Order: sequence, then structure tokens, then C-alpha cells
Amino acid sequence: MKTRSILSDPMTDVRLALLRAGRRATSRQLANLRSALSYLELGQWLANDHCGIRLQVVGDEFDLFEVARRRTTGRAPLYLEFGVFEGRSMRWWSENLSQPEARLVGFDSFEGLPENWRPGIDAGHFQTGRPPEIDDSRVSFEVGWFDETLPGFVVPDHDQLIVNVDSDLYSSASTVLHWLEPHVRPGTMIYFDEFPDRDHEMKAFNELRARSAHRFTPVAIAHGGVHWLFEASHMSCHSSLPDACTCSLAGRPRSQLSSCLPGSGPMYRDRPVDPWPRTLGWAHVGPPGSYAGRSPG
Ligand SMILES: C[S@@+](CC[C@H](N)C(=O)[O-])C[C@H]1O[C@@H](n2cnc3c(N)ncnc32)[C@H](O)[C@@H]1O
Repeated sequence: MKTRSILSDPMTDVRLALLRAGRRATSRQLANLRSALSYLELGQWLANDHCGIRLQVVGDEFDLFEVARRRTTGRAPLYLEFGVFEGRSMRWWSENLSQPEARLVGFDSFEGLPENWRPGIDAGHFQTGRPPEIDDSRVSFEVGWFDETLPGFVVPDHDQLIVNVDSDLYSSASTVLHWLEPHVRPGTMIYFDEFPDRDHEMKAFNELRARSAHRFTPVAIAHGGVHWLFEASHMSCHSSLPDACTCSLAGRPRSQLSSCLPGSGPMYRDRPVDPWPRTLGWAHVGPPGSYAGRSPG
């Protein structure tokens, strides 16, 4: 009897079909599915917790850095980069952060990833052997594994903190965010380079959100939502962003989302963007050619 009722459950066919499909799927296809799920979860999180914010959608990571740079108003900002590789992003910040009292510190083993990440990106990937050469006396490097360099790191005096998490792995991002937690202040910005990966950077960030006394508001995304910029504020303050939704929507049903401020929602270059595009998603609103991004990493 029991067997018959299980077999008449319509989900049984679906589960068996998924098992059959899984036998033929490649690990890359499964990684793509996990990635798709990450985007769906992030979309739902935006709808439930951040329905009224003006989330900027920009082209690539350098456009997103520019959003962060414009919000860097301190006299002595501190830019910390976790995952330097050949110094592409570090060089951008060195060239564009104009404050003479700014400090830029890059953390990396320069031995590549400590563990396998995505299919085809294994431990040792991104190995360069040494820090890049950047002709800027404000720039320095902490060479070694994060869990070895961070405990002894003396944080330079600063009045604003910008953090770039570009280390791909959950274990690396988690180490960084645990260390970072007591240093977060309202106005601290955190950039994630490979955010929509529910097993890696996104997971470490969700754990930070769950335990932190601060609220992290998404400010802008780039490359169709691969790269994300967040800004910290006091938990009691719903958002430090102008025009933010003032009603608390966490946990409220979709039907109540219309109580957000009229006209608020994701923006691209001051134009409102449909937060639920019916075609290609967030990336659809970026400037033409903006998806010619780099390889994963
Ligand atoms: C994607 S690359 C960084 C790319 C770089 N930001 C750029 O703009 O080109 C990731 C880097 O993180 C470093 N990394 C990852 N986990 C680490 C850890 N736990 N400790 C030290 N370095 C780590 C790797 O060595 C690698 O160079």
C-alpha cells in the first residue's frame, strides 16, 4: 500500500527524472544550476529585505569600483584587498584613490587558491609567486595565507574602510569576514567579486549578516550581478542610502511589497530599472558591450 501511494505522488516522477538527468550531467552544468539558484535566492532577498532601495546596475567591476570611490569621502581611507593575483584591481585603486593619506593593503599568498573552487579552477590556480609591482608608496602587501597574516596585521589609522573580497572560496571569504567584523563601521564598504555563489562568497556573507550588529545594504551591482557592493549601517537604521524604503518588509508577503516608496527600486544611471525583467535579467540594463568581462576569478 505504502509503495503504491509513493508511486502515485507526482513528485516521484520528477525526482526520478532528476536522478536520471544527474547521471548524465557534467560538474560544470551542475555548477551552472547552483549559480542560477544563487541568483534566484538573491532576487528573493532583494524583494523581501531591500524592496525600496535604489540599487545601481553598472557595467563592469571598474564601474562598480567607481561607485565605491565616489562614496569614499574620508581624508584617510583604508582599502584592503583580499585576493590580489596580478594586481588588476589593486592598480585601479592605486590610480584612482587620490587621497595622499590613503593606504592600500593587498593580502594574497601568491600561491594561488588553497582549495579547488569551480570545475576547472583548482587549488594553485592564480599562482604568480610574488606580488605585482605597483609604483605607489601608499600600497603594501601582506604575503601569505589569510589565516596566517590577518591575526598579526596592524590596521593602519583610517577614517573609512573599503574592503575588496576577491578570493573566490568560502573558506577564504569566511576567514576575512570573521576578521573584519570588529572593524566594520557605518560607511564601511564591502565589494564581492564573485558574489552569487551560494557555496562560497555569498555563503560567508550570509553568515556575517546573521551574526553582525550592522546592516549591509546593497549599493550597486555589475556584470549582471556577478559583482556586488555593500555599505554597512547601524542595524537600527534601515539603510544609509537616500530614498531607501522606510518600511520594514522582512518576512512580509509579496502582496504587501507595494507599500514601498513610489518610484523607488533599482536604478541604472538615474533611470529606474524593472527589478523583475522578463528577458535577460539585471544584465539587460547595462551599457552595450559591458558583458565582455574577464575569465572567472
Ligand atoms: C581571483 S584572484 C584575485 C584577482 C584580483 N583581485 C584581480 O583583480 O585580478 C584570487 C586570489 O586570491 C588568493 N587567495 C584565495 N584564498 C586565499 C587565502 N586563503 N589566503 C591567501 N590568498 C588567497 C589567490 O592566491 C588568488 O591570487
